[in-house]
Amino acid sequence: MMTEKRENWGSRFGFLMAAAGSAVGLGNIWRFPYLTGMNGGGAFIIIYLGCVALVGLCIMTAEFAVGRRSGLAAVGAYKSVSDRWSFAGALGVLSGFFIMGFYPVVGGWSLAYIAKSFTGLLAAPEAIGDAFGAFITNPVEPLVWMVIYLAINVVIVAKGIQSGIEAAGKVMMPLLYVILIAIIFRTVSLPGGGEGLKFLFTPDFSKVTGQTFLAALGQAFFSLSLGMGCMITYGSYLSKDEKLPQNALIVTTMDTSVALLAAVAIFPALFAFGVEPTAGPGLVFVVIPQVFAQMGGFGVIFSALFFLLLFIAALTSSVSLLEVVVAYLIDQQKMPRKKAVYITSAIMAVMCILASLSLGVMSGFTIFGVGFFDFFDILTDKIFLAIGGGLLAIFVGFFMKKEDLKDELTNGGTISFGAFEVWYNLTKYVIPLVIAWIAFAGITAIQQKSLMIFGLAVIAVFAIFSKKL
Ligand code: TRP
Repeated sequence: MMTEKRENWGSRFGFLMAAAGSAVGLGNIWRFPYLTGMNGGGAFIIIYLGCVALVGLCIMTAEFAVGRRSGLAAVGAYKSVSDRWSFAGALGVLSGFFIMGFYPVVGGWSLAYIAKSFTGLLAAPEAIGDAFGAFITNPVEPLVWMVIYLAINVVIVAKGIQSGIEAAGKVMMPLLYVILIAIIFRTVSLPGGGEGLKFLFTPDFSKVTGQTFLAALGQAFFSLSLGMGCMITYGSYLSKDEKLPQNALIVTTMDTSVALLAAVAIFPALFAFGVEPTAGPGLVFVVIPQVFAQMGGFGVIFSALFFLLLFIAALTSSVSLLEVVVAYLIDQQKMPRKKAVYITSAIMAVMCILASLSLGVMSGFTIFGVGFFDFFDILTDKIFLAIGGGLLAIFVGFFMKKEDLKDELTNGGTISFGAFEVWYNLTKYVIPLVIAWIAFAGITAIQQKSLMIFGLAVIAVFAIFSKKL
């Protein structure tokens, strides 16, 4: 059922900035550079771009179409076509929960690093790496920042997000580009920085395995906010005269360009400062302060600005994640918005506490062979999102009417979508097979086998009990 106050986006630009705001987040600026570093550089980037162009763009178009067609958030959108399929939407809600089990932890780090930029972090450049390790393993400090971060999300989503997200997106997204480009100018001119660009743009395919493909596919879904009904929800607020394929192309291009810009900003600095590209999740938190450490007072401001942008990028994304869960509770469980936000975020806070502690005092405690942080991260990024996207492709290809899709993507025949047949056949036949192949190759190559089996079992249980969801 539709709720009475179903809003539309205020303007096309507002929607684009909000959708791009959801897509552009920690995935681009924090995760993409360290994944690229851990997966051998250029070869990973090429595979990633392939996943974005072939799979991501089609799935985003499909999510927008499904959302606007039904005018409902994820579960409702599936349900409006078939009860049997509501499990795919519910799986998305669960993914949203799990991503929010670690995302606010990193969001809190970004907030902390705004403050730390001013309080002497840059004064001792040699200690920046150790300081990061000490910070994230501390049992109290990161929790405080995480709670502040999550509370900001709660305030925005509890109020209803339209004016907040739209307004913030319109200012922050353009600013993000400006700052990133300014930082690129600084880092590519560092002595020794050229090595970093070489690492990025000279592909070495000898390091590529099934895992590389799985990492690239998972990252494409994560970065584009796909595979869990987020863009279905955002599409449901779109007016009928918007051109869906064009908007999908713009959002995809913006998201990918920010990821590439972030890599170009960070890799020269890595090589200039002799940080290992395989440094993992600490990468930007260690490298960026080092870049600005020698610049004196301006350096402090640049560093703070960078983490402010990381924070804003994260915020416009996590708000969309929280909104997917909240929209489900409002639409399907008839819960008042505020109550939905409070309950949801309280559970998320507990998950985040576990995730944060798993990096420090609880590092000995593992489930399915990994700590809580990795549990939430790997489960969503390596299984749920890609399978959620695959399910959506099958749903669109085999359970929706082709005429309906054509009608939706051409606004009732009033605009042309020349690539419709290409999109349709890719989505229906090629993408499910590509995802199945990558999932199979990746899962057989991955170390965390029991976690993968657990994830697949969860999906099976959801599918079996779909009528109850
Ligand atoms: N895309 C965001 C990022 O790159 C994260 C995110 C927001 C997301 N909404 C999502 C990921 C929905 C998957 C699904 O940081």
